[in-house]
Amino acid sequence: MKDILEKLDERRANARLGGGTKRIDAQHARGKLTARERIELLLDKGSFEEFDTFVQHRCSDFGMENTKVPGDGVVTGWGTINGRTVFVFAKDFTVFGGSLSETHAAKITKIQDMALKMRAPIIGLFDAGGARIQEGVAALGGYGEVFRRNVIASGVIPQISVIMGPCAGGDVYSPAMTDFIFMVRDTSYMFVTGPDVVKTVTNETVTAEELGGAKVHTTKSSVADGAWDNDLEALLQVRRLMDFLPANNTEGSPAWPSFDAEDRVEMSLDTLVPDNPNKPYDMKELITKVVDEGDFFEIQESYAKNIVTGFARIEGRSVGIVANQPMVLAGVLDSDASRKAARFVRFCDAFNIPIVTFVDVPGFLPGTAQEYGGLIKHGAKLLFAYSQATVPLVTIITRKAFGGAYDVMASKHVGADVNYAWPTAQIAVMGAKGAVEIIFRQDIGDAEKIAARTQEYEERFLSPFVAAERGYIDEVIMPHGTRRRIARALAMLAEKKAEQPWKKHDNLPL
Ligand code: HXC
Repeated sequence: MKDILEKLDERRANARLGGGTKRIDAQHARGKLTARERIELLLDKGSFEEFDTFVQHRCSDFGMENTKVPGDGVVTGWGTINGRTVFVFAKDFTVFGGSLSETHAAKITKIQDMALKMRAPIIGLFDAGGARIQEGVAALGGYGEVFRRNVIASGVIPQISVIMGPCAGGDVYSPAMTDFIFMVRDTSYMFVTGPDVVKTVTNETVTAEELGGAKVHTTKSSVADGAWDNDLEALLQVRRLMDFLPANNTEGSPAWPSFDAEDRVEMSLDTLVPDNPNKPYDMKELITKVVDEGDFFEIQESYAKNIVTGFARIEGRSVGIVANQPMVLAGVLDSDASRKAARFVRFCDAFNIPIVTFVDVPGFLPGTAQEYGGLIKHGAKLLFAYSQATVPLVTIITRKAFGGAYDVMASKHVGADVNYAWPTAQIAVMGAKGAVEIIFRQDIGDAEKIAARTQEYEERFLSPFVAAERGYIDEVIMPHGTRRRIARALAMLAEKKAEQPWKKHDNLPL
């Protein structure tokens, strides 16, 4: 018996070496951790239970029969993050570059199936070169099985992808169908085809970093939702994110102990909005002053900064925050901001996370660049997302809520539950100058008349009271009491029941 146990230990130790010490050293030399080291950091200490340690590929082409490595390039299993079950797979770059074979795919789909059956989140750590080239269509078939399961699980359990090395082909398409993608700066890349193929096909010379580095995907393409400096930081931040997310679409927002009083007043908010309506202020200051312990996990921080999205807590329960940012492009809604916020709203709605919306928006961004780029369709995505949402929706208008953007940003009319405005709110079709130049066009040459008309318009419309008179705003509130108002509204809405009529699925303007 002792011999048998020792042999098992030996086999396990061998499997844990993956592609061997030389390749592990190379991995470390590149500033990357190994698959198992990453899992250890991601999960609670000692909680990882590995599956399929000894699975090997069955390929015999191109001399592959002599290259079997236990585990076949992916480490899979389950464990806990702060005591809550998660399923995990981590690509092992030291084994065939983490490439996906038929058996490697079967290990991942086993974990996907189990995560779905247990209604628990799944996290994929990617560091891999796509389909195993030696296997051909068997590998492509394997990817198809993974992709299909990504889609079935979408909206049922949270799926998170962390890109921690050079990822190509199927290893970017599976993440693309998950809820959030995070990258590691300087060591991770995502592209469908790498720089060599690009050079051959389009004759472009481009580095991996320029083609698909963290900067490109967090600022230009919006493929990634965030990036961190190294593996350790990335894994710790994913642990932090998981605490904001429910395990599945029926569990509801997780609750953690909060040491922040529900009725905390924040007097500095009374002077946050400048006297001059054209002067910016930082919406993130309002967010961090209102949420529990100032803890805000921002999603897509570096993309379309004119809108802010992310997770926070009120009275210990997760909420999604959507906020126009007057510091960037005056907080205007453009195509990128609309798409960013729409996707976030849909995630929150799918997973029963209430949404708090802070509004200071001068309207949609005019211009040919926006119109040619499909602003109508992209803006409609956000309008669609809010109109469809059945989670509690609480909206605070701090300053401008102009035109169509007023309707879009979780107005009462598209289904928001509780709508408050600060006394500084201006709810109107447009700003005074633009309005007067249109409705009093005949007076444009007469400065005195225009000034009088502008003042008249400002007094009549640039306030929260016209909307409040109609009940479009439930109450005009003191800025310093915003946290208490939101907390009480969310408590009242906790058991909200709202249903949409049955349909196979909607037809979101994609
Ligand atoms: C088999 C692979 C591999 C692959 C890498 N390796 N990719 N083996 N199949 N797809 C192996 C290498 O042979 C090498 O083995 C080891 O992994 C490390 O690779 P390197 O090239 O030395 O590493 P690096 O220079 O860091 O480059 C990483 C890389 C590059 C950018 C990922 O390897 C690469 O371009 N690979 C091919 C990418 C690709 O075109 N994949 C197919 C995509 S098609 P040794 O033994 O030397 O350690 C696809 C289809 C699905 O995925 C599409 C669905 C929509």
